[in-house]
Amino acid sequence: MNDTVSSETRFLHAVEFGLGAWQWGDRLIWQFGQNYGDEDCRAAFEVSLEAGIRFVDTAEVYGNGRSERMLGQFLKETDQAVLVATKYFPYPWRFTKKALIRAIKGSLERIGIEAVDLYQIHQPYSLLPLDSLMEALAEAAKEGLTRTVGVSNYNQTQMMRAYSALARNNVPLASNQVTYSLLNRSIEYEGLLARCKELGVRVIAYSPIEKGLLTGKYSPENPPPGVRGRRYGDLLPKIDPLLKLMTEIGQEHGGKSKAQVALNWCICKETLPIPGAKNAVQAEENAGALGWKLTEEEVEKLDEASDAILK
Ligand SMILES: NC(=O)c1ccc[n+]([C@@H]2O[C@H](COP(=O)([O-])OP(=O)(O)OC[C@H]3O[C@@H](n4cnc5c(N)ncnc54)[C@H](OP(=O)(O)O)[C@@H]3O)[C@@H](O)[C@H]2O)c1
Repeated sequence: MNDTVSSETRFLHAVEFGLGAWQWGDRLIWQFGQNYGDEDCRAAFEVSLEAGIRFVDTAEVYGNGRSERMLGQFLKETDQAVLVATKYFPYPWRFTKKALIRAIKGSLERIGIEAVDLYQIHQPYSLLPLDSLMEALAEAAKEGLTRTVGVSNYNQTQMMRAYSALARNNVPLASNQVTYSLLNRSIEYEGLLARCKELGVRVIAYSPIEKGLLTGKYSPENPPPGVRGRRYGDLLPKIDPLLKLMTEIGQEHGGKSKAQVALNWCICKETLPIPGAKNAVQAEENAGALGWKLTEEEVEKLDEASDAILK
């Protein structure tokens, strides 16, 4: 483990896998309430816990607070200790440091706990200058409202500025949550992943199965519904060779599915994937990414097949 990892943030490096909770209550992108609902989300949570997953990522904006409230309810129903990560959205009208403290208190109230394990700035654009934003974030940690702090969607320059600003307040940057999958490797190509490893900043990989594309269930003839279908119109016709390779590699490991290969690849790249699941079946399949490992050669082959699509 990297020597620069401070004792406060070390636990995050021991977390191998998590569960994303954007799906819990979101109607716009995920159509919550149409083909799945509260009970399905509860089952996804329970199945994940049974599989040993102990890290849930939510945000105040997911379902307008509904995801946090659902998590709070699910936590009450279990005696397992679960690590909770949530996020602050830097809306333009939030231009004071107090706004962040008010926001985290709101999240804690919805989740029904006294402190979260990780509090992240959802995206880098804020009317509050970065130094002040990081001071407020550090303050949240010092007040004991969060155990560690992180950022999300920060590029290398933005992250380095956040890292330094937090260091001036004696609080380490624990993580950067960014999009990362076999179909989106910008953080690798742009050097952000390497920089995070060097600094001991945990990379939390969101959309690790590229919003369902890496399960192989979507195609140009059968695109994902709504916004996703439009977004992936250009990519979908190109991904067959990669999916074929993922099937072959999965077979070498006793019939692992494409989703499981995609998630195991994220783990092999030393990131913490947080796939979202709409129900127990999806959560159970995703948890099957744990307990085995792709070989170095397989990771290289997957890299080449994804480079051929992305570069
Ligand atoms: N920080 C940020 O800005 C940010 C942005 C995005 C996400 N996130 C976080 O990252 C988490 C995961 O990212 P994501 O939700 O964008 O994408 P994802 O995990 O790559 O994809 C999730 C979607 O894929 C489908 N799926 C999942 N498992 C499946 C399986 N085993 N078989 C078949 N289909 C399956 C489901 O949708 P369908 O069934 O409808 O296909 C599910 O909603 C989110 O929940 C959230 O916590 C953070």
